[in-house]
Amino acid sequence: MPTMAIIGMQWGDEGKGKIVDLLSESAAHIARAQGGNNAGHTVVAKGVEYRFHLIPSGILYPSAKCYIGGGTVIDPASLLAEMDQLRSHNISFEHRLFISSYAHVVFPYHRLLDELADRSQGIGTTKKGIGPCYADKANRLGLRMADLLSKGFRNHLKEVLKRKNFELEKLYGHPPLDFEALASEYERYAQKLASFLAPVEEMLYKALKKEKILLEGAQGTLLDLTFGTYPFVTSSSTIAGGIPAGLGLGPAIDCTLGVVKAYTTRVGNGPLPTELSPEEMARFPDHIQSREIGVTTGRKRRFGWFDAVLAAHTLRLSGINRLALMKLDILDGLDEIRICKSYLLHGKETSSFPVLSEELLQVSPVYETLRGWKSSTKEAKSIEDLPKEARAYLSRIEELCAAPISLVSVGPGREQTLFLDPLFKEADWRC
Ligand code: IMP
Repeated sequence: MPTMAIIGMQWGDEGKGKIVDLLSESAAHIARAQGGNNAGHTVVAKGVEYRFHLIPSGILYPSAKCYIGGGTVIDPASLLAEMDQLRSHNISFEHRLFISSYAHVVFPYHRLLDELADRSQGIGTTKKGIGPCYADKANRLGLRMADLLSKGFRNHLKEVLKRKNFELEKLYGHPPLDFEALASEYERYAQKLASFLAPVEEMLYKALKKEKILLEGAQGTLLDLTFGTYPFVTSSSTIAGGIPAGLGLGPAIDCTLGVVKAYTTRVGNGPLPTELSPEEMARFPDHIQSREIGVTTGRKRRFGWFDAVLAAHTLRLSGINRLALMKLDILDGLDEIRICKSYLLHGKETSSFPVLSEELLQVSPVYETLRGWKSSTKEAKSIEDLPKEARAYLSRIEELCAAPISLVSVGPGREQTLFLDPLFKEADWRC
């Protein structure tokens, strides 16, 4: 049966959570392949607001099975808090939530080192320990969920902690962490999580033959460790190709849906070519109206115009077939809307996305200005209900990205979604 991957096409926070929530209704399985609790999204279901960081939000559908894959990094305290949130709303997830034993574990020294290193490095990370945990994994110093439950856990941790305490003390003058307290804390977590460990890889392999699987990407393409705006990136592979690798699933994606906002946002440092000027910011809806405050860190996101050079680039990197255009309603009040169609770099117009972040900082966007629609799109029920200027805006984005828009979101509610093609309503997700 088909699989669909949901991929963010900008710097994260594109609204993947809403799309995953919509599509989870018809998916038997929902899997998360990479990242950790640096991700965050809010889902409102039956009037209750849930915040998810690692557990796929599809868990809210009682028959869905959810998987946390081997390519993720798990902070047990944060995962247990997400579980408590579900329990407090009487949502049962036993026998429906499965964690891969291959996933690496985030320890307090990862969080500390993340915070201490970022003070001088200035990436603006989420401080959740994601980068240091993936670094330990690559350096063969990590502990996996399987290691947490193994007999050798204490010895393993003792060895690693010696090195981590050395780093903390010598590099940062930070007091060492106590081994006994840390080992006991993580043994308690292991006990609580043990029953959720499962052969996720085998389960998904078998499920693939029978039922639809939704593959939930986290963060955005430009935060990809290899192809993102390095070094202002996260430490995992956020492109579509990273999903099968993170799940041990084989290259089995039938449709890749690129989720992209009708404008651009970024949280943390690094280049954002179409960033609004202070005058443009004054006319743009503020952070509260536009719901542009981070779920994980509470930081205000930076705003930019829609960048078609960026979108076409990320579309290629993930082999995106269709687009989901999010938050069109945020542009409702504007007189004029700009789209960046190319860049000027060293005096030449280009539609290539530069590899070097310092070059991306130097590009001047070449804009097209479109008329705004100055009316609400929030109540629209179909594409025909949208003002003609809004439809013109969507058509131009399709042209510049060379991909069809399959759905448009005009508000946070499930009902505020316009389906432009039957792909998502049909049983078959192949596209
Ligand atoms: P890290 O993933 O915490 O190491 O942070 C690295 C960069 O990725 C920072 O700029 C973060 O703001 C950004 N980042 C990480 N996760 C997300 C996300 O889920 N949404 C948006 N930005 C993110």
